[in-house]
Parts: sequence; C-alpha cells; structure tokens
Amino acid sequence: MSAEKIQIFDTTLRDGEQVPGCKLNTNEKLVIARQLELLGVDVIEAGFPISSPGDFEAVRAIALQTKEATVCGLSRAVEGDIRTAAEALKGAVRPRIHTGIGTSDLHVQYKLRTSREEVIARAVEAVKLAKSFVEDVEFYAEDAGRTDNEFLARVCEAAVKAGATVLNIPDTTGYCLPEEYGAKIKYLYENVKGIENVCLSTHCHNDLGLATANSIAGVVNGARQIECTINGVGERAGNTALEEVVMILRQHPYLNLMTGVNSKLLTETSALVSHMMRMPVQPNKAIVGSNAFSHSSGIHQDGVIKHRETYEIIDPKDVGVDSSSIVLTARSGRAALAYRFQKLGYNFDKETLDKAYGVFLQVADEKKEVGDSDLHVLVEKQNLVTAG
Ligand code: KIV
Ligand code: ZN
Repeated sequence: MSAEKIQIFDTTLRDGEQVPGCKLNTNEKLVIARQLELLGVDVIEAGFPISSPGDFEAVRAIALQTKEATVCGLSRAVEGDIRTAAEALKGAVRPRIHTGIGTSDLHVQYKLRTSREEVIARAVEAVKLAKSFVEDVEFYAEDAGRTDNEFLARVCEAAVKAGATVLNIPDTTGYCLPEEYGAKIKYLYENVKGIENVCLSTHCHNDLGLATANSIAGVVNGARQIECTINGVGERAGNTALEEVVMILRQHPYLNLMTGVNSKLLTETSALVSHMMRMPVQPNKAIVGSNAFSHSSGIHQDGVIKHRETYEIIDPKDVGVDSSSIVLTARSGRAALAYRFQKLGYNFDKETLDKAYGVFLQVADEKKEVGDSDLHVLVEKQNLVTAG
C-alpha cells in the first residue's frame, strides 16, 4: 500500500512572523516564499492582508509569484477581513482564504463576549462569504485545543455544510497532550457529518514543548494537513517545526504517511529564514541545529567512527548536511583523535598516538574545543613522526 500524502501548510510568513523583532519586508517575504515553493510545501500562508498595507502587498506579491503551491491569506470571521484577503489573493493560481473564530468557552465569553450559537452563525456566514470568492476555504476554530469536543464538532459540521474544504483544529495555547489532541482529531473524524469530503488540519503551538508530538498524534488519527513553520518560529514558544514533522514521517515509514518536501533543502531553508528573521537557531535544535549532527563524547565518537548508525538516526546528507562532525573535546577518546589526525594526513603508531593523546587532553582542558590548527601545532611542538 503506498503512503498517504500529508499536506504541508507553511505559516512562517504569517504565524511565524508574529515574533517580535522578526518582521520581514515584502522583498524578504518573496525570497522566503520562493524557497518554500522550491522546498515543496503544499500551502504557503503568506500573511494576514487586513492587518496592514504592507501585509496586503506581501500577500498580493506572493500570490502573483507562486505557481505551484496554494497561497493562503488569513482573515477573522469578519466581512472586511474576508473581502481584503480575497482582493490580495486575486492573482493566485491556487488561492485559499483561511477564516475562523474562537470556539473555547474562554474565547466565546471573554474575548468575543457572545454565545455559542452566535459563534456558529458567524462561522457559517464567514465561510459562505469566503466561498463566494474562492473555491478553497479553510476554517479555523481558534483555541480548539481547549474547546469541548461536542461543541467543536457542531461548529466544524456547520463550517463543512457552509462549504469549508479544510478544517483547522488549532491548539492555540499549546495546552494539549498528544493523546488528548489525537483523540480530539479522532472524535471529529468520527462525529462530524461530511468530514470525509474535507481535510482535517493540525495547527499546534509549542508552549509545553509538545507541538511536534501533537501534530504527529493528529495525523496518526486522521488529520491530513500539518500547519508548521521553519525552525518552529512563532509567538511565545513558537509553532510546530516543519523540519521536525517532515523528518519524523520520513524516518518512520511504517506510519505510511509522507510529504512532498525535499528534505535535502531543509538546512539551507532554515539558515535563510534564520538570517532574514534575525533569529538564531539554537545549536541543539532537532534536524537543523549546528549540533544536530556533531558528536563530542568519546563513547559516541568511537561508535560513529565504527558505524555511523550507532548514534545517528538520520543520514546528514538527507537534510543537506555533507557529513556529521566529530568535535574534539576533553571527552574525546583516542579513536576520535586518531580519526581526526588521519583526516589531516597523520598516521601515528600506537606509541606516538598515546603520547599525542596525553598532550591533547591538556590542550582540551584549556581550550574546551580542539581545532585542526591546534593539532598541527601539537604535532610540530612534540616532533611527532607519522608511521607513513
Ligand atoms: O493559533 C491559532 O489559533 C492561529 C489561528 C489564527 C489559525 O494561528
Ligand atoms: Zn497559531
């Protein structure tokens, strides 16, 4: 049985760009959108057109530039938002309007100050209006993570009946546990009439560090789209990281789910977004952090030198990194030192290597990380002779 495709909906330019200090101008957004299309994402959420003239212009320009991916614009369930999104998306080959409203009791009572029935009515009206402009309408139930499943199913059913093609179930506050989020998706799948004709989408925030786990629980339970951002950027603790969900599905083929993303472009895309948003990637970030493929402890280095897969579950080439690296520190053993010496052209017999290792440990204690130039100096100073 061939693997089922999970749509990758990238919201780096909308939800991701809401990070303070990461604002992008239209040109920067166009460059990132081009890279996202090259990467193979299915949907680019280009912005929130009503929010500012700059956002409108960016969505309009991305809509005109993009040929393969669907281009999406966000709107609240508000007439002016929807009309403005439709206007910005006019030139798109595949336009999508993403509209929605808060559904949790907290949102209904305190933010919207209205009733559940009114929320359903506004949702239906918004989807119908969006549908009068574009065929592809995605409905979001904001704070679905904290919305009771029965009411959520009623809202979703009304949105489907009104013409929604995609139902987005955001865990807006990053509150859910994976079991809970997966069960929510399953419940909707089993209880919303007409759901077989639409795509269920995950949209998870990372406040408890569970965004990726929740998104995977979502697709395992029937969702067929994941909303995510490059490097997991986004407000507060961010959104689901695109590179993580793509590699999880790739490295676990028994799930029988795949994406259209070219994983070899993940590292360069991460670097581009980090540079343009002026937001460094943490070194230990999964998949794209600078330490993701570097080994520093002696036991691990020895294992990786003997067989890469002893301590690596991903071939670095699959994410666009030439090779993993062995970082020489005071935790490194003789095997790692000999390996690095060989790469530099030195082949020492056991006795010479033992001598070199003793000096190396002293240097490593002083310097924390020992580089190639330090090793050359060590060889010269100690008059070490290679065995040929
Ligand atoms: O987190 C969220 O609920 C959102 C919606 C606006 C889709 O970003
Ligand atoms: Zn969000």
